[in-house]
Amino acid sequence: MCGIIAYAGHRPAVPVLIQGLKSLEYRGYDSAGLAFVHRESLHLFRASGKLEALETKLDSDHVLHATSGIGHTRWATHGLPNETNAHPHLDINAHLAIVHNGIIENFQDLKTMLAGFGCSFRSETDTEVLVCLISQRLKEGGSIPEAISWALNLIEGSYAFALISKNHPGTIWAARQASPLIFGQGTGENFVASDIPAFLPFTRDVIFLEDNELVEMNSDQWTVYDARTLEPITKDIQAISWDVQAARKGGYKHYMLKEIFEQPQVIRDCMTGRIERKTWNIQLPEIESLPIPKRLHIIACGTSFHAGLWGKYLMENLARIPVDVEIASEFRYKPLVTEEDKVYLTISQSGETADTLAALALVKKHGFPVLGLCNVVGSSIARESDHVIFTQAGPEISVASTKAMCSQLVLIFLLSLYWARRKKLLDSQAVENAVGSLTALPDKLELELPVMRERAAVISRTYSASRSFFFLGRGIYYPLALEGALKLKEISYIHAEGYAAGELKHGPIALIDPDFPTLAIAPDDSLLGKIKSNLKEIQARKGKIIALTQDGTGLNVDDEWTIPKTWGALNSFFILPALQLFAYETAVYLGKDVDQPRNLAKSVTVE
Ligand code: M6R
Repeated sequence: MCGIIAYAGHRPAVPVLIQGLKSLEYRGYDSAGLAFVHRESLHLFRASGKLEALETKLDSDHVLHATSGIGHTRWATHGLPNETNAHPHLDINAHLAIVHNGIIENFQDLKTMLAGFGCSFRSETDTEVLVCLISQRLKEGGSIPEAISWALNLIEGSYAFALISKNHPGTIWAARQASPLIFGQGTGENFVASDIPAFLPFTRDVIFLEDNELVEMNSDQWTVYDARTLEPITKDIQAISWDVQAARKGGYKHYMLKEIFEQPQVIRDCMTGRIERKTWNIQLPEIESLPIPKRLHIIACGTSFHAGLWGKYLMENLARIPVDVEIASEFRYKPLVTEEDKVYLTISQSGETADTLAALALVKKHGFPVLGLCNVVGSSIARESDHVIFTQAGPEISVASTKAMCSQLVLIFLLSLYWARRKKLLDSQAVENAVGSLTALPDKLELELPVMRERAAVISRTYSASRSFFFLGRGIYYPLALEGALKLKEISYIHAEGYAAGELKHGPIALIDPDFPTLAIAPDDSLLGKIKSNLKEIQARKGKIIALTQDGTGLNVDDEWTIPKTWGALNSFFILPALQLFAYETAVYLGKDVDQPRNLAKSVTVE
């Protein structure tokens, strides 16, 4: 998704902007640009492709003179990903420059209106309409904030933007509506960005701007206004505790690998303060006031949806709460079937996924309680939910989500135990077994991850020429099969489908031949016999099989991949990283761009 950085301070602005854009690369982009004012003119640099392409254009002397400016990485929504459509965009007189994230839904109508005033457009973007509206209003007199406020009243859709003016060097205006934007206060310098890592090397003091807020800043001062009334608003500064290292690769070749290896620590962090050691009671003060739901409805997208599906199996088994799980983009366009005592649970790493956010708004409108399971503090979903549990995975940079899912599973596990205990379905011994096993898990996983990586590297080479894959699982491992297939697809571009193993014979088995391998999740549990039969059916059609399994299962397959044993559903915490590492090693072997796969964005903040 697009990334914005704006800087007003005492340093040369261009290196700050480039550095900021580099830390926003994880959001995915197809072009980049920046603008600043120098010697009473607006200077604009844009390039399609990666940031290196932009940097090669920045060789003129004056790039080091400006001490304020705006920068952008674009992920195309309106118009092709080329230089003309890259941001910043200028108004017709080249007095204003803007960078924008989001979608202006009524931009065609506004374009027609502006054409009536004699405006012409250089790009196919919706963004150009916004800067032209502001410019049009300025012609009629008034201040820049007044012109912005007028323009924003005409706009339908979502935006986060930053604007500079040739006539006011050193001042930046920025505002948001349904798109993330954060203000950073430094000493003699101020920032605005789509995400905190963009300015984290310079300041930890931030304000999470809300919808309809407009900030005006220069190097020494800033004011937040209500964008409609232009009344000043008092805002609290929050100190961010992440260190810069946490947002960097920490010696790993890719963020994805680093994040896979962080999972033992993520499990520890997710448990911190959640377990009363003497009684093994689960502590979730965030939901103490929430009655135990009669029915739970989980809404999420992508990997978070798979975590929700995993939660359905666990919650129904442990807490005997019926659970529906829906993809947010489907849920939001269906009639809402109301039911008493239903609780909605939205799951989102970023907390900014547009479909999940829209589903949340719909549910809230009908008065149902919403519990958010979110990784990003201050994100829209976290702020909009009635109750929030933060997943404590730390910043996830790689587009392919790994440690965030691990953290979601831990919290869903604790949530299931919490409600099961409150319903008196489990005695303290059962909780002790489950929680004791979870507590022992991180150390075991830490030892196992390097072993798993080696195995993943060997197996992935054998199968890397395959054009398609099946991932099979049963019961609680079926959602992990879906996740394994998603991971392989998104970073190696090999077609893969996740299936409930019992479904294979209802159609998909027709695809099996010696070149269509299957990765089967076959741990030593009550469904092992069933999955063994499914694997026999595949072998009868000469299909190759990799089995993620455990000692003593007696499987006879092409590649056996043995993982350690632990308590029940917690085996998922070995299976999940094995699947992630399989996808990772395949993608690396095939030379793919692991952290920024083609066509994908980290946070899908538009529909
Ligand atoms: O931030 P969210 O958890 O709401 O994101 C949902 C999906 O966009 C995300 O999980 C996506 O599927 C990942 N790229 C998968 O690796």
